[in-house]
Amino acid sequence: MRDDVIYFDNGATSWPKPPEMGEAMMHFLTEVGASPGRSGHTLAVEAGHIVYSCRENLCKLFNLKHPQQIAFTKNITEALNIVFFTILEKGDHVITTSMEHNSVMRPLRYLESQGVIELTVVQANPEGVCAVEDFAAAVKPNTRMVVVNHSSNVTGTLQDIQAISKACKAKKEDVLFVVDTAQSAGAYPLDAEKMGIDILCFTGHKSLLGPTGTGGVYLTPAVTPRPFMHGGSGSKSDMEVHPLFMPDVWEAGTINIVGLAGLNAGLEYLLKTGVANIRAHEIAVTQRFIDGIKDHPMVKVYGPLDANQKTPVTSINIEGIVCSTVGTELNDACGIMVRTGLHCAPGAHRTIGTFPVGSVRFSFGGYTTPEEVDVGIKAIRALADYAAEQKEA
Ligand code: ALA
Repeated sequence: MRDDVIYFDNGATSWPKPPEMGEAMMHFLTEVGASPGRSGHTLAVEAGHIVYSCRENLCKLFNLKHPQQIAFTKNITEALNIVFFTILEKGDHVITTSMEHNSVMRPLRYLESQGVIELTVVQANPEGVCAVEDFAAAVKPNTRMVVVNHSSNVTGTLQDIQAISKACKAKKEDVLFVVDTAQSAGAYPLDAEKMGIDILCFTGHKSLLGPTGTGGVYLTPAVTPRPFMHGGSGSKSDMEVHPLFMPDVWEAGTINIVGLAGLNAGLEYLLKTGVANIRAHEIAVTQRFIDGIKDHPMVKVYGPLDANQKTPVTSINIEGIVCSTVGTELNDACGIMVRTGLHCAPGAHRTIGTFPVGSVRFSFGGYTTPEEVDVGIKAIRALADYAAEQKEA
């Protein structure tokens, strides 16, 4: 493990990963190697067991009952696109929020521009929180989907998923409740049944502690899926049309089995460690960070100041220093890695008042130490002191 950097960019991709993740990928490459679901030989069966174990572990983590209702994709963007482009039909109304990432907003805006869907965007308050009653008020007879970002990749703000689902379904029972868990899966305990989630989209490379190139979608058995791509599935090979059952319908072509071997190891680590324990650690380091900088008059912290109300993502700005300069200074002078700018979420930045410049985002993880956080606090305070001197000069 290199010790010349302090990594506060877990919101983009978690790092480091548990050592078991890399070991599982190496084991697959050197000892298994085969394609799952295509042949009946020993190695193909072993590969199939890894994939099935990954589906089962996701079910344990999200409290889902049907492992075969989980299809793997290359990331959450692909998962969300599959959901929108195969389920929505002309005339459907969709409700989403002003805190969405472009992986939700761009496909939905595209479908709106093509006259396929009608879109309502629920406006969050400046802390990024949406009012539950605003969703219920937006539901119409043609509302087909409600799509909500569980936890913002800009401020970490959590939405009350369970209450939003309940309120929308009370207005229209067959509304499909779709949740983007990019920032929350593995960082916040998820119970799809209790939270009323019909379609849960996830990415593997953030808090689920897998490698890049992994992600997926859970689809309620109540929906009959249509294919997104057509091709080899290893099933129904006598037919010249793509199968319509999960997960094959959304897994055309050989899936990223080496990536899933790594994701499965990440999931086993999470199940062994406990998401609640990881969350407690992440709340502690996030609160330490916020408390260490929030009183400085030149520092603005966005989103909730109580770490219990968010995942470990905090955006800030220093008055008088543009965010990209802060990021460069942190990197070059202190070896601190953060993400600056708009974070592919312009609506979220409009909501918190930082559009079009953006913010400096600190995103912590299970491996972040209090000592690293203290280095971050010291660096921010030093830059903020400098900004104060310049203001006075
Ligand atoms: N969506 C990722 C981020 O917030 C890449 O950085």
